[in-house]
Amino acid sequence: MNLVLEKLPQGFLMAGNQAPMDLFDARGLLLLTRGQLVTEWIRERLTRSEVYTLKSEKKPFANIKPFSKDLYWDIIGSIWSIYHDAELITPEQISQTMVIIEWIIKEINDKCIYIDTNSLRVNLASFKEHDYCTFVHSVNVAILSTLSARELGYKGQRLKYLTLGAILHDIGKIKVPYEILNKPGPLSKHEVSIIRQHPLEGEAMLRNTKVLPRILTTVRQHHERWSGSGYPDGLSGSGICLEAQIIAVADVYDALTADRPYRKALPPYHALEMILTMEKEFNPVVVRAFRKSLNLYPKDTLVTLNTGEIGMVAAVPTSFPTRPLVRLLIDCNGKYVDRETYIDLMCELTYFIIEASSGNYYLAGP
Ligand SMILES: [Fe+2]
Repeated sequence: MNLVLEKLPQGFLMAGNQAPMDLFDARGLLLLTRGQLVTEWIRERLTRSEVYTLKSEKKPFANIKPFSKDLYWDIIGSIWSIYHDAELITPEQISQTMVIIEWIIKEINDKCIYIDTNSLRVNLASFKEHDYCTFVHSVNVAILSTLSARELGYKGQRLKYLTLGAILHDIGKIKVPYEILNKPGPLSKHEVSIIRQHPLEGEAMLRNTKVLPRILTTVRQHHERWSGSGYPDGLSGSGICLEAQIIAVADVYDALTADRPYRKALPPYHALEMILTMEKEFNPVVVRAFRKSLNLYPKDTLVTLNTGEIGMVAAVPTSFPTRPLVRLLIDCNGKYVDRETYIDLMCELTYFIIEASSGNYYLAGP
């Protein structure tokens, strides 16, 4: 895909609004970053000169698209309203959840979904309801697990039950006091033992719902580890059901990429690299499927590097998806790079991606 500078009509900027896209002058010098506040002074200066933005010459993607943000919020709101004051889960609540599972599977089916982690992330501290974080996490894990499972060949009813298990995997956390769940410091032994009850609590809450025993097992086993170091039963290897193994990887990835009271979120590339090094903790086949399905930086994604340079992903090595070949577009002085220059992150190990964005001009989905 080629990018060109396209002239914008005069007077399209309004003072008090945010810039809708990155804006450049005719030489390709960055004038204003997307999201920056347009003050009256900036508006007045820009109306006196020609302003350009980057446009793709053609729609680049036939089948890559980000997970719909609106749908994502609908799903979280629906799941929260079904479960937020739950004690024992009822068959009725499961039926309502199955409708939401259809939404998730329909959204990701037959599409190469790109999880735009930055836009899906929310400031969890802004929610007054203490359990909202649990439901945001559950939905993230459900989406990530469904993508992994699809990579492993799950489909039809089997895929739906996997997604149901993923949405419900942490339901037992409703029983854990807020002060323990969000404690900003180290937990006491007693507090750890309370948190470690949540897979069993979740299993107990689902007993009367007539869901398949396999789903109860999934909820119970999602903190078991391939090496045998997990809980509550210390199972290992294939003694852990495959659904719980799939959810475990997604669970850890989502926890690492979210802000916690005691640490900041890791960037996606860092979280994925950590998971790739935790060979003993997870089934390597599941990790491979997760890595493939995550589609962290699909070709043509616009990425910001730690050097301040902005580029577009030109190729992704299958074995190291966090280290793509990047075509440089904006240099570290904010200047548009008009001749083809590439940075190979496999070779340039001090470079890394700090942000992947999803502006319309480079993620034009079908
Ligand atoms: Fe959990």
